[in-house]
Amino acid sequence: MTPDPEHGLGSWSAEDFTRAMRRGKSPDGHAYWPAFPYPSFTQISDDDLADLWAYLQSVEPVAEPNIPHDISKSRFELSLWRRLGLRVGGRGYEVEKGEHARGAYLANAVGHCGECHTPRNGIGIPKRSKQFGGTDAPPEPAPPITAEALGWSLTELSSFLTDGWTPDDDVIGGEMGRIVHDGTAPLTDADRRALAAYILSR
Ligand code: HEC
Repeated sequence: MTPDPEHGLGSWSAEDFTRAMRRGKSPDGHAYWPAFPYPSFTQISDDDLADLWAYLQSVEPVAEPNIPHDISKSRFELSLWRRLGLRVGGRGYEVEKGEHARGAYLANAVGHCGECHTPRNGIGIPKRSKQFGGTDAPPEPAPPITAEALGWSLTELSSFLTDGWTPDDDVIGGEMGRIVHDGTAPLTDADRRALAAYILSR
C-alpha cells in the first residue's frame, strides 16, 4: 500500500480510502475479498483513519504488482458472507477511555487478531463465542491465544509482542512474525500492555 498510481493508492481520494476501509469496496465499487481484513478495519476510529491515510501518502511509491491471493470461494459466497456477516458503513469505534477499552480497540480493530485466531462458521463468519480460540484454516493455522491456552503472564505476552520471542525461547516466524515486526513492536509500551491485558482477559 504505497502511493504508486498504478499498483497502489496514488490515484485514490481520501473518500476512496475510507470506503475501502469502512465498507470493503474498491474505488470502482466492487467488493473486496476479505483476504484484506476490512471486517476489523471497519471499526477503526475516524481520527486513526485520517492519520493512516496521511501516513500512506508519505511513504515512497513502489511500482510493484500486489501478490495474487489464492481464493477458492465464488462471488456468490462473497456476497452472501457480506450480507450476513459484515457490519459495513459504520462510523468506527467511539474509542472509550480506559486500558481495557484501548486493548479491545487495538486487538479487534487495528491489530485484527481475530481474523486469524478466531474460528469461523461454514460461511466464514467468526464465531463470537470462540473468540481467539484458534483455527487450522489455510493459509496458515493460528493457535488459540486465550489466557488459558497460552498460560503466559502479562509480562511474557507483552515481551512476545515486542520481540517475537516466546517464553520457551522460540522465535516466531511467518505471518505472526510480520504482525509482531510491523504491528505490535512499534506500539508504545502502554498500548502493547493494554493489548496484552485484553487478550489475556478473554
Ligand atoms: C495474519 C494472521 C494473524 C494475525 C492477524 C495475528 N496472528 Fe498471531 N499468529 C498467527 C500464526 C499463523 C501463528 C503461529 C505461528 C507459528 O507457530 O509459527 C500466531 C501465533 C501467535 C502467538 C503465539 C502462540 C503460541 O502458542 O506460541 C500469539 C501470542 C499471537 N499469535 C498473538 C496475536 C495477537 C495479539 C494478534 C493481534 C495483534 C495476532 N496474533 C494477530 C497468525 C496471526
